[in-house]
Amino acid sequence: MADDILSKMRSEWDARARENARFYVNTAKQDWTDDEFFQSGERTVAEEILTDMTNICQGKAPQAMRVLEIGCGAGRVTRALAGLFGEVHAVDISPEMIVQATAALSPFPHAHVYQNSGSDLEVIPARDFDFAFSTIVFQHIPSRDVIEKYVSEVSRLLRQGALFKFQVQGDTTLQTIAEDTWLGVPFSDDEAVAMAERCGFEPRYRHGAGGQYFWLWFFKR
Ligand SMILES: C[S@@+](CC[C@H](N)C(=O)[O-])C[C@H]1O[C@@H](n2cnc3c(N)ncnc32)[C@H](O)[C@@H]1O
Repeated sequence: MADDILSKMRSEWDARARENARFYVNTAKQDWTDDEFFQSGERTVAEEILTDMTNICQGKAPQAMRVLEIGCGAGRVTRALAGLFGEVHAVDISPEMIVQATAALSPFPHAHVYQNSGSDLEVIPARDFDFAFSTIVFQHIPSRDVIEKYVSEVSRLLRQGALFKFQVQGDTTLQTIAEDTWLGVPFSDDEAVAMAERCGFEPRYRHGAGGQYFWLWFFKR
Protein backbone atom coordinates (compact mmCIF):
# COMPACT_ATOMS: atom_id res chain seq x y z
CA MET A 1 0.00 0.00 0.00
CA ALA A 2 1.43 3.41 -0.97
CA ASP A 3 2.41 5.14 2.29
CA ASP A 4 2.15 8.62 0.77
CA ILE A 5 -1.62 8.44 0.14
CA LEU A 6 -2.22 6.95 3.60
CA SER A 7 -0.28 9.72 5.30
CA LYS A 8 -2.07 12.35 3.16
CA MET A 9 -5.47 10.91 4.14
CA ARG A 10 -4.45 10.88 7.80
CA SER A 11 -3.13 14.46 7.86
CA GLU A 12 -5.95 15.99 5.79
CA TRP A 13 -8.72 14.23 7.74
CA ASP A 14 -7.04 15.17 11.00
CA ALA A 15 -6.91 18.82 9.91
CA ARG A 16 -10.63 18.66 9.02
CA ALA A 17 -11.38 17.09 12.41
CA ARG A 18 -9.48 19.81 14.28
CA GLU A 19 -11.20 22.56 12.25
CA ASN A 20 -14.81 21.28 12.59
CA ALA A 21 -15.12 17.49 12.86
CA ARG A 22 -18.90 17.38 12.95
CA PHE A 23 -19.26 19.53 9.82
CA TYR A 24 -16.88 17.35 7.79
CA VAL A 25 -18.62 14.22 9.07
CA ASN A 26 -22.03 15.54 8.05
CA THR A 27 -21.94 18.72 5.96
CA ALA A 28 -25.68 19.36 6.44
CA LYS A 29 -24.81 21.83 9.26
CA GLN A 30 -21.84 23.96 10.40
CA ASP A 31 -22.77 24.04 14.09
CA TRP A 32 -24.20 20.79 15.36
CA THR A 33 -25.42 20.52 18.94
CA ASP A 34 -24.70 17.19 20.64
CA ASP A 35 -28.38 16.24 20.41
CA GLU A 36 -28.70 17.08 16.71
CA PHE A 37 -25.46 15.34 15.81
CA PHE A 38 -26.23 12.10 17.62
CA GLN A 39 -29.86 12.14 16.46
CA SER A 40 -28.58 12.22 12.87
CA GLY A 41 -26.64 9.02 13.67
CA GLU A 42 -29.81 7.48 15.15
CA ARG A 43 -31.57 8.35 11.87
CA THR A 44 -28.88 6.59 9.85
CA VAL A 45 -29.33 3.49 12.00
CA ALA A 46 -33.14 3.72 11.75
CA GLU A 47 -32.97 4.02 7.95
CA GLU A 48 -30.16 1.60 7.08
CA ILE A 49 -30.11 -0.93 9.92
CA LEU A 50 -33.49 -1.18 11.65
CA THR A 51 -35.15 -1.59 8.23
CA ASP A 52 -32.76 -4.43 7.34
CA MET A 53 -32.59 -6.61 10.47
CA THR A 54 -33.24 -9.89 8.64
CA ASN A 55 -30.07 -9.54 6.57
CA ILE A 56 -28.08 -8.01 9.42
CA CYS A 57 -29.02 -10.18 12.41
CA GLN A 58 -29.90 -13.45 10.64
CA GLY A 59 -31.89 -14.59 13.67
CA LYS A 60 -29.35 -13.49 16.29
CA ALA A 61 -30.36 -11.07 19.06
CA PRO A 62 -28.64 -7.68 18.47
CA GLN A 63 -27.38 -7.73 22.07
CA ALA A 64 -25.50 -10.96 21.27
CA MET A 65 -23.82 -9.51 18.16
CA ARG A 66 -20.28 -8.22 17.62
CA VAL A 67 -20.25 -5.36 15.10
CA LEU A 68 -17.50 -3.53 13.19
CA GLU A 69 -17.59 0.00 11.72
CA ILE A 70 -15.06 1.44 9.25
CA GLY A 71 -14.52 5.23 9.36
CA CYS A 72 -16.39 6.11 12.55
CA GLY A 73 -15.50 9.83 12.50
CA ALA A 74 -16.69 11.60 15.67
CA GLY A 75 -18.85 8.62 16.72
CA ARG A 76 -22.10 9.87 15.17
CA VAL A 77 -23.30 6.44 13.95
CA THR A 78 -21.10 4.43 16.34
CA ARG A 79 -23.07 5.75 19.31
CA ALA A 80 -26.34 4.60 17.76
CA LEU A 81 -24.78 1.21 16.95
CA ALA A 82 -23.70 0.94 20.59
CA GLY A 83 -27.29 1.54 21.69
CA LEU A 84 -28.40 -1.49 19.69
CA PHE A 85 -25.63 -4.09 19.55
CA GLY A 86 -23.82 -5.99 22.31
CA GLU A 87 -20.24 -5.24 21.22
CA VAL A 88 -19.01 -2.56 18.81
CA HIS A 89 -15.51 -1.98 17.41
CA ALA A 90 -14.80 0.98 15.12
CA VAL A 91 -11.76 2.42 13.35
CA ASP A 92 -10.83 5.77 11.84
CA ILE A 93 -7.64 7.07 10.24
CA SER A 94 -7.73 10.43 12.08
CA PRO A 95 -6.39 10.65 15.66
CA GLU A 96 -8.57 13.72 16.38
CA MET A 97 -11.71 11.93 15.15
CA ILE A 98 -10.81 9.08 17.52
CA VAL A 99 -10.44 11.52 20.43
CA GLN A 100 -13.93 12.87 19.69
CA ALA A 101 -15.44 9.40 19.12
CA THR A 102 -13.94 8.19 22.41
CA ALA A 103 -15.68 11.05 24.25
CA ALA A 104 -18.97 10.34 22.43
CA LEU A 105 -18.80 6.68 23.42
CA SER A 106 -17.82 7.13 27.06
CA PRO A 107 -21.28 6.01 28.30
CA PHE A 108 -20.92 2.75 26.31
CA PRO A 109 -18.18 0.51 27.75
CA HIS A 110 -18.97 -2.20 25.18
CA ALA A 111 -17.92 0.16 22.32
CA HIS A 112 -14.23 0.39 21.37
CA VAL A 113 -12.64 2.83 18.91
CA TYR A 114 -9.17 2.64 17.39
CA GLN A 115 -7.03 4.80 15.16
CA ASN A 116 -5.90 2.55 12.30
CA SER A 117 -3.46 2.68 9.40
CA GLY A 118 -6.08 3.80 6.87
CA SER A 119 -6.19 0.50 4.99
CA ASP A 120 -6.05 -2.53 7.30
CA LEU A 121 -7.75 -3.77 10.46
CA GLU A 122 -4.74 -5.10 12.34
CA VAL A 123 -5.64 -2.93 15.37
CA ILE A 124 -8.86 -4.86 15.94
CA PRO A 125 -8.30 -7.40 18.73
CA ALA A 126 -11.43 -9.49 18.01
CA ARG A 127 -12.60 -11.81 15.21
CA ASP A 128 -15.81 -13.58 14.21
CA PHE A 129 -17.79 -10.38 13.70
CA ASP A 130 -21.52 -10.79 13.01
CA PHE A 131 -21.94 -7.60 10.97
CA ALA A 132 -19.80 -4.81 9.47
CA PHE A 133 -21.00 -1.36 8.38
CA SER A 134 -19.58 1.76 6.74
CA THR A 135 -21.30 4.91 5.52
CA ILE A 136 -19.86 7.99 3.76
CA VAL A 137 -16.27 6.79 4.08
CA PHE A 138 -15.23 4.98 0.89
CA GLN A 139 -16.67 7.91 -1.12
CA HIS A 140 -13.68 9.85 0.26
CA ILE A 141 -10.96 7.28 -0.50
CA PRO A 142 -9.13 8.00 -3.77
CA SER A 143 -7.40 4.62 -4.04
CA ARG A 144 -9.06 1.45 -5.34
CA ASP A 145 -6.30 -0.60 -3.65
CA VAL A 146 -7.10 0.91 -0.24
CA ILE A 147 -10.83 0.19 -0.60
CA GLU A 148 -10.19 -3.37 -1.75
CA LYS A 149 -7.75 -3.92 1.12
CA TYR A 150 -10.52 -2.91 3.54
CA VAL A 151 -13.00 -5.26 1.88
CA SER A 152 -10.55 -8.15 2.18
CA GLU A 153 -9.80 -7.21 5.81
CA VAL A 154 -13.50 -7.19 6.66
CA SER A 155 -13.77 -10.59 4.97
CA ARG A 156 -10.99 -11.85 7.27
CA LEU A 157 -12.85 -10.67 10.39
CA LEU A 158 -16.46 -11.64 9.59
CA ARG A 159 -17.89 -15.04 10.44
CA GLN A 160 -19.15 -17.10 7.50
CA GLY A 161 -22.49 -15.83 6.17
CA ALA A 162 -22.26 -12.45 7.90
CA LEU A 163 -23.01 -9.19 6.09
CA PHE A 164 -20.78 -6.23 5.24
CA LYS A 165 -23.16 -3.39 4.30
CA PHE A 166 -21.37 -0.33 2.97
CA GLN A 167 -21.33 2.45 0.39
CA VAL A 168 -18.96 3.40 -2.40
CA GLN A 169 -19.08 6.25 -4.90
CA GLY A 170 -21.11 4.96 -7.85
CA ASP A 171 -20.91 7.94 -10.21
CA THR A 172 -18.39 6.72 -12.78
CA THR A 173 -18.66 9.97 -14.79
CA LEU A 174 -16.77 11.82 -12.02
CA GLN A 175 -13.26 12.97 -12.84
CA THR A 176 -11.36 11.98 -9.71
CA ILE A 177 -7.77 12.74 -8.81
CA ALA A 178 -5.51 10.09 -7.28
CA GLU A 179 -4.33 12.40 -4.46
CA ASP A 180 -7.72 13.95 -3.57
CA THR A 181 -8.83 12.83 -0.08
CA TRP A 182 -12.33 14.31 -0.44
CA LEU A 183 -13.65 12.82 -3.69
CA GLY A 184 -13.13 9.05 -3.75
CA VAL A 185 -12.72 6.65 -6.64
CA PRO A 186 -16.02 5.45 -8.21
CA PHE A 187 -17.10 1.84 -8.83
CA SER A 188 -19.35 0.53 -11.57
CA ASP A 189 -21.68 -2.33 -10.72
CA ASP A 190 -19.35 -4.78 -12.53
CA GLU A 191 -16.33 -3.47 -10.62
CA ALA A 192 -18.16 -3.86 -7.29
CA VAL A 193 -19.15 -7.44 -8.15
CA ALA A 194 -15.60 -8.33 -9.22
CA MET A 195 -14.19 -6.88 -5.96
CA ALA A 196 -16.66 -8.95 -3.91
CA GLU A 197 -15.61 -12.14 -5.70
CA ARG A 198 -11.89 -11.44 -5.23
CA CYS A 199 -12.43 -10.80 -1.49
CA GLY A 200 -14.55 -13.85 -0.65
CA PHE A 201 -18.00 -12.25 -0.66
CA GLU A 202 -21.30 -12.89 -2.41
CA PRO A 203 -22.49 -9.43 -3.65
CA ARG A 204 -26.10 -10.37 -3.06
CA TYR A 205 -27.76 -6.95 -3.29
CA ARG A 206 -26.68 -3.60 -4.74
CA HIS A 207 -28.63 -0.35 -4.72
CA GLY A 208 -27.86 3.09 -6.17
CA ALA A 209 -25.33 2.18 -8.91
CA GLY A 210 -24.42 5.34 -10.84
CA GLY A 211 -25.04 7.64 -7.86
CA GLN A 212 -23.11 9.05 -4.93
CA TYR A 213 -24.52 6.50 -2.48
CA PHE A 214 -23.98 3.10 -4.09
CA TRP A 215 -24.95 0.63 -1.34
CA LEU A 216 -23.47 -2.87 -1.37
CA TRP A 217 -24.60 -5.93 0.60
CA PHE A 218 -21.64 -8.33 0.61
CA PHE A 219 -22.19 -11.67 2.41
CA LYS A 220 -19.11 -13.56 3.54
CA ARG A 221 -18.88 -16.89 1.72
C1 LIG B 1 -17.65 11.93 6.14
S1 LIG B 1 -16.88 11.21 7.54
C2 LIG B 1 -18.12 10.01 8.02
C3 LIG B 1 -17.96 9.50 9.43
C4 LIG B 1 -19.00 8.47 9.86
N1 LIG B 1 -19.00 7.31 9.00
C5 LIG B 1 -20.38 9.07 9.91
O1 LIG B 1 -21.18 8.80 9.00
O2 LIG B 1 -20.65 9.82 10.85
C6 LIG B 1 -15.60 10.22 6.82
C7 LIG B 1 -14.68 9.58 7.87
O3 LIG B 1 -13.84 8.64 7.21
C8 LIG B 1 -12.55 8.72 7.79
N2 LIG B 1 -11.60 8.20 6.81
C9 LIG B 1 -11.21 8.76 5.64
N3 LIG B 1 -10.32 7.96 5.02
C10 LIG B 1 -10.17 6.86 5.83
C11 LIG B 1 -9.39 5.68 5.74
N4 LIG B 1 -8.58 5.46 4.71
N5 LIG B 1 -9.49 4.77 6.73
C12 LIG B 1 -10.29 4.99 7.81
N6 LIG B 1 -11.04 6.10 7.95
C13 LIG B 1 -10.98 7.01 6.97
C14 LIG B 1 -12.37 10.20 8.08
O4 LIG B 1 -11.36 10.43 9.04
C15 LIG B 1 -13.76 10.57 8.57
O5 LIG B 1 -13.87 10.43 9.95
